[in-house]
Amino acid sequence: MKNIFIKTFGCQMNEYDSERLLTLLQKGFRSVADYKSADVVIVNTCSVREKAEKKLYDLLGRLRLFKKVKPHLIVGVVGCVAQQEGEKIIKRAPIVDFVVGTHNLSLVPALIAEAEEKKEKSVVVDYRGDWDLEVSDELGETPLEDYLDFNNINTFGNFYSKTRALVAIQRGCDKHCSYCVVPTTRGRELSRGMSEIEREIKFKVQNGASEVMLLGQTVNSYVRVGGLSCPDRISFEDLVRRVADIQGVQRIRFMSPHPQDVTDDFIKLFAEIPKLCPSIHLPMQSGNNRILKLMCRNYTVERYLEIVAKLRQVRPDIAITSDFIVGFPTETEDEFADTLAVIHDVQYSFLFSFKYSPRPNTLAIKKYSESEHIINDVAQHRLRQLQELQKELSLKFNQQFIGREMQVLVEKIVYCDNGKRVIRGRNPQNILVEIDSEQKEALLNATEITVCGESASPFAVRGKFVNH
Ligand code: 5AD
Ligand code: SF4
Repeated sequence: MKNIFIKTFGCQMNEYDSERLLTLLQKGFRSVADYKSADVVIVNTCSVREKAEKKLYDLLGRLRLFKKVKPHLIVGVVGCVAQQEGEKIIKRAPIVDFVVGTHNLSLVPALIAEAEEKKEKSVVVDYRGDWDLEVSDELGETPLEDYLDFNNINTFGNFYSKTRALVAIQRGCDKHCSYCVVPTTRGRELSRGMSEIEREIKFKVQNGASEVMLLGQTVNSYVRVGGLSCPDRISFEDLVRRVADIQGVQRIRFMSPHPQDVTDDFIKLFAEIPKLCPSIHLPMQSGNNRILKLMCRNYTVERYLEIVAKLRQVRPDIAITSDFIVGFPTETEDEFADTLAVIHDVQYSFLFSFKYSPRPNTLAIKKYSESEHIINDVAQHRLRQLQELQKELSLKFNQQFIGREMQVLVEKIVYCDNGKRVIRGRNPQNILVEIDSEQKEALLNATEITVCGESASPFAVRGKFVNH
């Protein structure tokens, strides 16, 4: 057995891909938590913003020094930056042995073997028109936990847990948001066959998962786009209904729907399926119609607010989260103020917010001159204002759980800054809950437990285990 270290940047789709990679490599590799004990390092990259891309080159710089001490180290770069930059990565960082884009992860085991034999360096960035075959190879007889050390998956997002199964239902994106690089890094949108999805869910449920997180760039366009090549076509809404029928699935979430594809049937799901958690991540990006138009988002503020109202009507306890970009080229102070007003109106439980970052191959980078860009200090100030507002709203949202009992799906034990161990889990609204309990190990084997909220911060609720 050799040691492999997989560093994952970016979104849950990348985490999912890293997990698949580990399963593909399970026969020959054990995953380790640090590159210093690794024989092979794979960097799964993100290029959605420039900052994420820079992290790859920072890590490669450190690996270049490390390779001086460990000359047989093999380094592979996969994911979105690999897809976007191809062989430029090897030119800039010659320690890299292979570069594999988002559609060809199944080739990684063979490329590691080639690198061990010191063959030519390889760059594989072809777009594949089918669903990458490695998905069917992945489901072996071995229970996942035997070969996957979940704590070793070194991710920034920390979406990973033993009790939550990430399951991709589509890949790629056919929307053309003017700021976004994803349609080029992940390719055209393609829905995955329902029988494959069900197979993966059943396998993961048998191996300890009770929550299913369906993944895709725009999940609710499932089969509406790319459906012709999908062998067993159903709508996204029927897909969720079918997932709810799978024995052992206790909670369902999905990420991320696009407001443009929200239908009344979609909203109905939240009334109809108790297993569908009362939480939704619905990216809005801007609270101003002119900016939304420039972003090519295909909905208005009014339509977005209508969706929110309808969701709250059918599921009053729903928690809504979102993504916002500040400082899109030409955004004025008044237009930014519209964004703040909408955030206040919607009362989100949590937000992911970003400064606009010009990306290659996007409409926005071609369209806007330097003078139309918002200067960094202004964008930074807007970001800070937005985040301060949201901090207040998140705190207010989380305070509603104080003194209330909630069902928490246990995920893991973590160490806090003060060295204390606490159990972490999530309530139905997807709020992080930290639990003080003497019975830590026992609780870890439970799935859902009852917790009474005791205090709240903008990021989590703290509570006590209630033994009924
Ligand atoms: N600049 C800043 N943020 C971006 N996002 C996507 N592209 C960019 C960009 N060029 C954000 C969007 C998206 C989230 C995943 O990342 O808010 O929803
Ligand atoms: Fe990017 Fe827009 Fe597709 Fe989301 S919907 S991945 S923001 S292009």
